[in-house]
Amino acid sequence: MQIDVVSLFPPMFSVLTQYGISRRAHELGTWQLNCWDPRSFATDVHRTVDDRPFGGGPGMVLMAEPLAQCVEAARRSQQAGGCERTHVIALSASGVPLVDARVRALAAAAAGRTGLVLVCGRYEGIDQRFVEAFVDEEISIGDFVLSGGEIAAMALIDAVVRHLPGALKAESVQEESFADGRLDGPQFTRPETWRGRAVPAVLLSGNHGHIARWREEQALARTRRLRPDLLQEDVRSK
Ligand SMILES: C[S@@+](CC[C@H](N)C(=O)[O-])C[C@H]1O[C@@H](n2cnc3c(N)ncnc32)[C@H](O)[C@@H]1O
Repeated sequence: MQIDVVSLFPPMFSVLTQYGISRRAHELGTWQLNCWDPRSFATDVHRTVDDRPFGGGPGMVLMAEPLAQCVEAARRSQQAGGCERTHVIALSASGVPLVDARVRALAAAAAGRTGLVLVCGRYEGIDQRFVEAFVDEEISIGDFVLSGGEIAAMALIDAVVRHLPGALKAESVQEESFADGRLDGPQFTRPETWRGRAVPAVLLSGNHGHIARWREEQALARTRRLRPDLLQEDVRSK
């Protein structure tokens, strides 16, 4: 799977290739990462990629042309790497909120030879004409405003990579929060008693049926308490 990122700050993405599951999967060749800096396609000596917004207002806006050239270069690179399609995502506070089902669908598409290109905005955002001409989908990682799309893109990549074949054991992603429309239950590890708090006795019982039932009840109770909307969605989708 090939992921290309368009960003003014490519070094930020080294976090993904240096730590944890995304690092291991990257080392195994499960996914590849290329970064494209719009400044490389700027035409003036100052390598300008932003300008003042038409109509006035605060801040600066990323210009369309350097972003377009980044996406075109990424697309050529993906085609050369064997991708049959390219799907362009812009990270945006006004995008569609990212959910687990979308993450899994993107991972499935990527495993099926669709290259992903993630465009990270900065400043006040991106010239809308670029969005209309190049972007297939705008994604938000939550109802708040970040300073740039990089952290959002990294969150998306990390979530997608977990679902690529071979990145994790299949049961790990099947038993996680959201996989079956509810949150994961509580987890415990050694010691059996920590600062006066004992591990629930059922987990020490060795009775796998009882443990499974207890975990199911706990997961449901937690979902009801923290994310009742998930259970309502579950009912709506049936
Ligand atoms: C300071 S923000 C621009 C905010 C924009 N003026 C607005 O009010 O929606 C700069 C960039 O950060 C990214 N960004 C900010 N919040 C985001 C979020 N919740 N999800 C994804 N990307 C976000 C986008 O790429 C955006 O272009």
